[in-house]
Amino acid sequence: MNAQLSPASTNPELDAFWMPFTANRQFKAAPRLLARAEGMYYWTNDGREVLDGVAGLWCVNAGHGRREITDAVTKQLNTMEFAPTFQMGHPIAFELANRLAKIAPPGLDRIFFTNSGSESVDTALKIAVAYHRARGAGQRTRFIGREKGYHGVGFGGMSVGGMVNNRKFFGASMLPGVDHLPHTLDIEHNAFSRGLPQWGAHLANELERLIALHDASTIAAVIVEPVSGSAGVVLPPAGYLKRLREICDKHDILLIFDEVITGFGRVGKPFAALAFDVTPDLMTTAKGLTNGAIPMGAVFSQRKIYDAFMQGPENSIELFHGYTYSAHPVACAAALAALDVYAKEGLLTRAASLSAQWENAMHSLRGLPHVIDVRNYGLIGGVELEARAGKPGTRGFEIFLKCFERGVMVRQTGDTIAMSPPLIIEAKQIERLVETLAAVIRETA
Ligand SMILES: Cc1ncc(COP(=O)(O)O)c(C=O)c1O
Repeated sequence: MNAQLSPASTNPELDAFWMPFTANRQFKAAPRLLARAEGMYYWTNDGREVLDGVAGLWCVNAGHGRREITDAVTKQLNTMEFAPTFQMGHPIAFELANRLAKIAPPGLDRIFFTNSGSESVDTALKIAVAYHRARGAGQRTRFIGREKGYHGVGFGGMSVGGMVNNRKFFGASMLPGVDHLPHTLDIEHNAFSRGLPQWGAHLANELERLIALHDASTIAAVIVEPVSGSAGVVLPPAGYLKRLREICDKHDILLIFDEVITGFGRVGKPFAALAFDVTPDLMTTAKGLTNGAIPMGAVFSQRKIYDAFMQGPENSIELFHGYTYSAHPVACAAALAALDVYAKEGLLTRAASLSAQWENAMHSLRGLPHVIDVRNYGLIGGVELEARAGKPGTRGFEIFLKCFERGVMVRQTGDTIAMSPPLIIEAKQIERLVETLAAVIRETA
């Protein structure tokens, strides 16, 4: 690239890294650099302590710097840094799949490994289509996603997703044959609900309308996040997910839960499917699987789906799909160690015991200037602020920045502040997180 054509940079040493989902020029003019992490805290490169209110990016569920994971990764690197899983195998991949099957929602005991949430989503979508084909219903290729949904950034995930900015830049470069349910965020009816909103289960009936429009025989799967995080914490109204399940069953459509953020304890049970007592056919995960230490994802599949592929000649590959790094041994070692930590410290259910305090702390923000909604579930919180006239997102960003300056890391999506701290958080740290946010909201015009 011709450097002379680039706009003047204030920090040339930062220019080469094209940062993801970041305002690159704004960031590089005033960078926020993290250098070290331990427990509930990050430290910036100039030595400031920052309380992590978002578990990195919804992934460091057991807190930072876990020695158990570091040691397992080091040991695996020294033993066998890589081994292929195409027509070969290595023991800890099978051990990890078995461990995951044991904590999975009922029946979801066949596990396909990926390297990220986006890959998990695209994998699940492909499995859904190929499953129907394997059963002689190859015309079922359509997907139903949902407005405000986030399913990563692959072409599949982007297409079923419903966040406008993630779509509009890519025009018509989407999967064909995708439709969307309405989202379930309704501040008029549900503002300041504690836990699941009571209004809105009927929104699931929109699925019947889409099925009538497209005909069930063309639809492979419905994909939703049980709780969506990226769109700014959108909760399912009570009864909504059960209704989706019933409609999918009625029409022989697969239901996919994207549990990339809700998986591994975030909602007080190992998975949201267990918390809401609704079992999907496929479940996508990543993030907390390795405590964020090594990239890895996993798709949990109902056994009936796996079994549908296990036909024909035994020497034929049943699913033409996989990644060089599927079940990477170092990632497997990290995941096994993370699962050990989660089990030993009860972290997959700890959010349930903290959720009452969390809920009260979050709802103490009600009544502060510009706060138009507070949403919470498990150890997830969202605070929605009124947008400034003609300048959406600027209030949210300012609050995010000021929190960071005061030593608290939150996440901002538009004018919503989201929080999802490591599941090891203590009562005092919840107080500090929310008090800092409250102080910043008070002084932000
Ligand atoms: C629900 C959901 N699905 C998929 C993804 C994509 O995961 P990744 O960034 O690991 O590709 C995310 C990331 O936040 C997510 O929240």
